[in-house]
Amino acid sequence: MINYSLFYRLIQNLIFGLLGKKNFFSSISILIKELHIDHIIDIGGGDGVLLNYLKDCDFKSYTCFEPDETLIAIAKKKFNGEKIKFINKSVDYITLDDLSKENSIVLMLGVVHHIDNEMVKKIVSKLNKNKVITYDPFFHKDINPISFLLKKMDKGKYIRNLKSYSEILKGFNFTERINVYFRFYSSVIYFKNIDKEIIEKYL
Ligand SMILES: C[S@@+](CC[C@H](N)C(=O)[O-])C[C@H]1O[C@@H](n2cnc3c(N)ncnc32)[C@H](O)[C@@H]1O
Repeated sequence: MINYSLFYRLIQNLIFGLLGKKNFFSSISILIKELHIDHIIDIGGGDGVLLNYLKDCDFKSYTCFEPDETLIAIAKKKFNGEKIKFINKSVDYITLDDLSKENSIVLMLGVVHHIDNEMVKKIVSKLNKNKVITYDPFFHKDINPISFLLKKMDKGKYIRNLKSYSEILKGFNFTERINVYFRFYSSVIYFKNIDKEIIEKYL
């Protein structure tokens, strides 16, 4: 998992670097700042990589739910502080109470393609008031060969096509946005309770 995570991040940074674009995490951090978010809930947050980009954000709490103990251990060595929490928990054990803080954003960055339909529905049915952003790769016709290969190598067993993602999320009020500057890799964002204009401006 660690090697894969590093590999995934390397590829991401490489592609963003080649395109001369901001790293995805820095764009997310700008968005969090702009929205004046108090509580950040990072589901499948891995080793807490996002925290590297949140230094300028005045948030009240950051909570990462991550099932991989090794990643949690790495995260805890790197990041500490009263407002930072790493919880060893899979998405299907997250409760309404875990999500109950006012003015919160729930992030599932690169996570939905790791979990089956039932788990996706279980978590999204609990996300009513929260602002939410998911971000995942997808398969499609005319996919370029490099993107196809990277996705085939991905450890996530559930990279879907857009129709399948939207079918699972149907009825949960998500808006779809193809991540335009990452189009080469064809990734898709689903968001809710956030203005479309703000998403389009930063992501
Ligand atoms: C591709 S990595 C993304 C990590 C981080 N969010 C990022 O953007 O770098 C996928 C993450 O989803 C986590 N994950 C896999 N299955 C999960 C589950 N059932 N519940 C929560 N997280 C899960 C993995 O452990 C891993 O940290």
